[in-house]
Amino acid sequence: MMRPWNFSAGPSVLPVEVLERAAAEMLDWQGSGMSVMEMSHRGKEFMQILQEAEADLRDLLQLPDDFAVLFTQGGAQAQNAIVPMNLIGLKPGRKADYIVSGNWSSKAQQDATQFGHINVAASSAAAAKLDGREYKPFAWFPAVDTWHLQADASYIHVCSNETIGGVEHNEWPEFDVPLVVDASSNLLSRPFDFKNIDMLYAGAQKNAGPAGLTLVVIRKELLGAADATCPNVFNYELLAANQSMVNTPATYSIYIAGLVYKWLKQQGGVAQIEKANIAKAETLYGYLDQSSFYVNAVQNSDRSRMNVPFQLRDAALDSVFLAEADQRGLLQLKGHKSVGGMRASIYNAMPLEGVQALVAFMKEFEQRHG
Ligand SMILES: Cc1ncc(COP(=O)(O)O)c(C=O)c1O
Repeated sequence: MMRPWNFSAGPSVLPVEVLERAAAEMLDWQGSGMSVMEMSHRGKEFMQILQEAEADLRDLLQLPDDFAVLFTQGGAQAQNAIVPMNLIGLKPGRKADYIVSGNWSSKAQQDATQFGHINVAASSAAAAKLDGREYKPFAWFPAVDTWHLQADASYIHVCSNETIGGVEHNEWPEFDVPLVVDASSNLLSRPFDFKNIDMLYAGAQKNAGPAGLTLVVIRKELLGAADATCPNVFNYELLAANQSMVNTPATYSIYIAGLVYKWLKQQGGVAQIEKANIAKAETLYGYLDQSSFYVNAVQNSDRSRMNVPFQLRDAALDSVFLAEADQRGLLQLKGHKSVGGMRASIYNAMPLEGVQALVAFMKEFEQRHG
């Protein structure tokens, strides 16, 4: 089935095969006589769906056995409070280090301040001159060797892909303090090395399923430090002990996420999808860099493979660009209001063909308006 190309930052495009299978199974899941939405979360049918989703996710992430997988709710922003409620008590000083590299990590840092002593260990909130070039705020990632970390922090928080700024960083050295990663927009798009990562969370609605599901992956030895005030439904230790069922989980979202994981395995897994993602990103950035009509202002080494913000040199043409793109079946390209311009999100389910269609339109638009 031919559909328009959907560049939404999230909720975003899902593999068509996943949607078709969900449609086929809508009224009767595998002979059960029930839609997945109608099943008890504790019944054998849904337990099978949950267990398969977890097994496939573990397989895709190559997750070591000493990690728990939690299927939670509240979205990634809820984790801004849930992470400190669970982890800041790991050490008596209730300190945490935050790396502020864009809007999402900035929000996480601000939300955390009510739970303890929050230190901004590094920030790209100011413009910077790097390698002789000027970069705007949040258009670069603070180099790890510039971070001012505290030895007695309970954890370090980073965001591996800033969805709004289009800034991605994924290389983490070994720290003496647990590393917590907001991987909402690049989880499953590339391998993550769990040697140096201790916890990761993601709103599923980009590469990891639909909205309504928030994934948490956590080293088991970090469980058990939650504040007494942490609600049970957000307590990682309780969630781990109860197979994510302290209360009713987001059953249908978990089911769709499970279909996404099966699709990803059919594509050859994360290593294969990473190759495809590199090819897509090179196609789009390659075009942007040779054009004087469009610009992506992010430092080269920190450019996101998932979210590509770009501006037209003449912002007066923005609305014309968006309207024409829409007519060509190139949807949801409007940039976030804090950055302006355009943003093409090119998650796993966006094929190279979609990126090529976008570039072809951009070229033609440049010829007509440049
Ligand atoms: C990196 C990142 N963190 C956090 C969030 C917030 O996610 P949610 O809307 O699930 O709370 C988003 C949303 O796009 C995001 O991209």
